[in-house]
Amino acid sequence: MNYTIKYGGKEQPVLILLHGTGGNESSLLDVGKDLMSDATLIGIRGEVLEQGQSRFFSRVSDGVYDEVDLEMRANDLHRFISELLQKSQLTNQEIVLVGYSNGANIAIKLLLNYPDKYQRAVLFHPMYPIDVLEDHDLSQTELFVTLGTQDSIVPIEESQRVLTLFRRFHANILSEWTLTHQLTYLEVEKAKKWLHRII
Ligand code: MLT
Repeated sequence: MNYTIKYGGKEQPVLILLHGTGGNESSLLDVGKDLMSDATLIGIRGEVLEQGQSRFFSRVSDGVYDEVDLEMRANDLHRFISELLQKSQLTNQEIVLVGYSNGANIAIKLLLNYPDKYQRAVLFHPMYPIDVLEDHDLSQTELFVTLGTQDSIVPIEESQRVLTLFRRFHANILSEWTLTHQLTYLEVEKAKKWLHRII
């Protein structure tokens, strides 16, 4: 996988940056720096190409995910992150997933599949249009989630579905409503305050 790493302070958290459709490993570096200036930042590029745009998993159409591919890509991504942390000697640091849009959506899968490994996440404008039938214990999970009241990509019921999903599994959530799908300075500032409070 393509990635970039910017080392921060020795004892500081590691932010795993997962871009939206059409982004790359560098897209969220500035956001990561704003969120926590002395953290180590790891930006990863999704390996699926949709009309030349990088994503983290395939979809059948807008809002319809290829669930088999999502499962496989999430497991691959987890393996990649684990090996990278190991070889970069970052295994003792606190890990925070930071995802925007498609990156937030694969982050949800990581949170569900590996609740012992990923317990902190900033999810900007996620959507998870999948019926999760099995149970998960996310009582140790801390989330900051932003959602748009007039998001042209994520209908409001889908934003609500993300919150309902995490509430059902007893995650600790701070949610903020914004207007559109656009990532704004204000929501990054709010995420930053939240992050400095929970770390
Ligand atoms: C997705 O496919 O992950 C969501 O629809 C967000 C996006 O358009 O990338």
